[in-house]
Amino acid sequence: MPYPAPAMIELYHVQKRYPGQDAPALDDINLQVDKGEFCLLTGPSGAGKSTLLRLLFLAEEATRGQVLIGGKNVAQVKKRHRPMMRRNLGVVFQDFKLLERYSVFDNVSLALDVQGRRKDDVRQRTDKMLEQVGLAHKSDQKIAHLSGGEQQRVAIARALVTDPAILLADEPTGNLDPERSNDIMDLLLRAHARGTTILVATHDPALLERYRHRVVSLKAGRVEKDERFR
Ligand SMILES: Nc1ncnc2c1ncn2[C@@H]1O[C@H](COP(=O)(O)OP(=O)(O)OP(=O)(O)O)[C@@H](O)[C@H]1O
Ligand SMILES: [Mg+2]
Repeated sequence: MPYPAPAMIELYHVQKRYPGQDAPALDDINLQVDKGEFCLLTGPSGAGKSTLLRLLFLAEEATRGQVLIGGKNVAQVKKRHRPMMRRNLGVVFQDFKLLERYSVFDNVSLALDVQGRRKDDVRQRTDKMLEQVGLAHKSDQKIAHLSGGEQQRVAIARALVTDPAILLADEPTGNLDPERSNDIMDLLLRAHARGTTILVATHDPALLERYRHRVVSLKAGRVEKDERFR
């Protein structure tokens, strides 16, 4: 008998109240995302999607309840161990900017350098990743010289190059035309096929239509719907 896949992400009665706000941004959230699941997070503006992703990236702390990643309660992870925990997470956030004055190659390879990998290994992995996002020919260009869609693809490449266990993406197709946003989703699906657990916050109706694995809808900080389609 195979064991059931352990939940990769678990939230129990999670509340997040920002200082000075009357209403909590998240309230009594219960959610489990299994290892290898592809989950879309949706809901109106202000529903709490970004807040939920920020809790998982350890950028914010829950005011109540428990957040577990890979079975570990994040509140019990010492501050100095957080960077290590983050290394298992690939993130594409709007406020997680690329380094404008550095090249495409440097932006993507940095995460690998931090892991202390050998130079030839770093080059090989980075080149392969840039190939996959269709930016091999822009490897030496500075970020500032790229279009918005190209920058978005660099951000995805940076998030995926380390082959993280979990990918968190906040509106990864925001501001992209439909064709480009399809390209991005294809990249995420490829990562999913390799076993990465994926949680994507999106408003984009096209994505919600095309990639229905599991859709969790938030409304005013609560889970309104949790639907599995296949
Ligand atoms: N740093 C902050 N300080 C205070 N309140 C915040 C902060 N960040 C978010 N909020 C509030 O928390 C609530 C949820 O915001 P959040 O950004 O998580 O929503 P969202 O679902 O991502 O919205 P959008 O679709 O517009 O990105 C909102 O009412 C917002 O005003
Ligand atoms: Mg948001």
